Amino acid sequence: MDKLVIEGGRVLNGVITASGAKNSALPVIVATALAEEESLLENVPHGTDVEHICDILSSLGVAVRWDGPGRLRINGAGLNRVQAPYELVRKMRASFYVAGLLLGRLGEAVVPLPGGCSIGSRPVDYHIKGFEALGAQVALEHGYMKAYAKRLTGAKYYVSRASVGATINTMLAAVLAEGTTVLENAAREPEVVDLANLLNAMGAKIRGAGMDVIRIEGVKRLHGTEHEIIPDRIEVGSYLILGAMTGGKVVVENAMGEHLRSVLASLGAIGVEIEESTTAICVQRKDRLTPLNIATQQYPGFPTDLQAPFSVLLTQSDGVSTVRETVFDGRFKYVDELRRMGADIQVERDTAIITGPTQLTGAPVEATDLRGGMALVIGALAAEGKSEVIGLEHIDRGYERLEHKLQNLGACVQRISV
Ligand code: UD1
Repeated sequence: MDKLVIEGGRVLNGVITASGAKNSALPVIVATALAEEESLLENVPHGTDVEHICDILSSLGVAVRWDGPGRLRINGAGLNRVQAPYELVRKMRASFYVAGLLLGRLGEAVVPLPGGCSIGSRPVDYHIKGFEALGAQVALEHGYMKAYAKRLTGAKYYVSRASVGATINTMLAAVLAEGTTVLENAAREPEVVDLANLLNAMGAKIRGAGMDVIRIEGVKRLHGTEHEIIPDRIEVGSYLILGAMTGGKVVVENAMGEHLRSVLASLGAIGVEIEESTTAICVQRKDRLTPLNIATQQYPGFPTDLQAPFSVLLTQSDGVSTVRETVFDGRFKYVDELRRMGADIQVERDTAIITGPTQLTGAPVEATDLRGGMALVIGALAAEGKSEVIGLEHIDRGYERLEHKLQNLGACVQRISV
């Protein structure tokens, strides 16, 4: 068990390079195994979630091999097992993507149902309805989803809610189906577009990704390809918020501003100065910050994954801000820990009411989920005095080389093995 020891209160300055997007890498890695040839992925982040998905694919017979930093070679030729092991799948919800892969490639999938989650209830009913729409017979037995289809056939599927996971899983199953699938009310997240770009480079015929109707014309087989994962917009956003929080000038490279419009607009609205180039974004806080009311939304709205980091920043605004969480029903668990650092935040149902500005003070705190954990790290870096953050296994899922990146900005942070 590791902990981060942070001496806060320093002004952070400098350049930080964002990694590839975790939420893109996970489905993209799975998708490459739809082909019986090798693919090469670049800009792959190396957090524990990516390690888990690689382990799951290996357990199914897929050859997965790191070929230098950020370079991953995957060959799906050996895929020969239809049951994903519970002890690996239970570690991460996105493991459920192997269901789309197995159904698409082998016509059968036996995958443990993902359990509860620390940010709220996260069922997979829309994923399952997608498989059924494509003609699969699905049974839920003893904690497993068992799906079978002699041949998947294209169909029209209206996703009741624009779910990222259901859109991705249905796409994975539909690319090798017979005929055309039309996904209506599809998620428009950049990670869905990245997946469609990869699949098209492998020979799939997908149109409309990034819009709310995606049309997938099934093909007989896919081939290997080379693909570079898009930058991690949530990591970029986290470091921009950190820069604004600690008051220096922070430049984030390997960033795509067009994936962060709502976040950049919100930063600008509270008084943070932003400069953008094609591949980098710079933030600087000169004046006092003003309060803001925001609500999380599906893309291109304000991302739920930056709700916690942005809420920490709003503790520095002069006045009362509100943050409404509309995507997940349990995403304010970090608030109690932040209060221990002196934050003035009240939660009423789906809304956090934040009164500032507050000089945060260092405290021992515990991360209970990935983004809430990062919010605590950001708070600790701005707080006066020493903080100790435990629960790093959550943060390590999605922030690669965290303490090294922070140290490059001048942060006083150390990882200690307990
Ligand atoms: C993905 C991201 C996560 C992000 C979220 C929303 C990955 C690995 N994770 O999660 O970081 O916070 O998108 O941008 O990419 N829902 C159902 N039934 C379903 C599926 C979803 O009720 O079958 C509900 C969920 O409980 C949630 C909402 O729909 O309330 C949105 O979930 P979804 O877009 O599916 O998020 P994930 O794919 O789980």
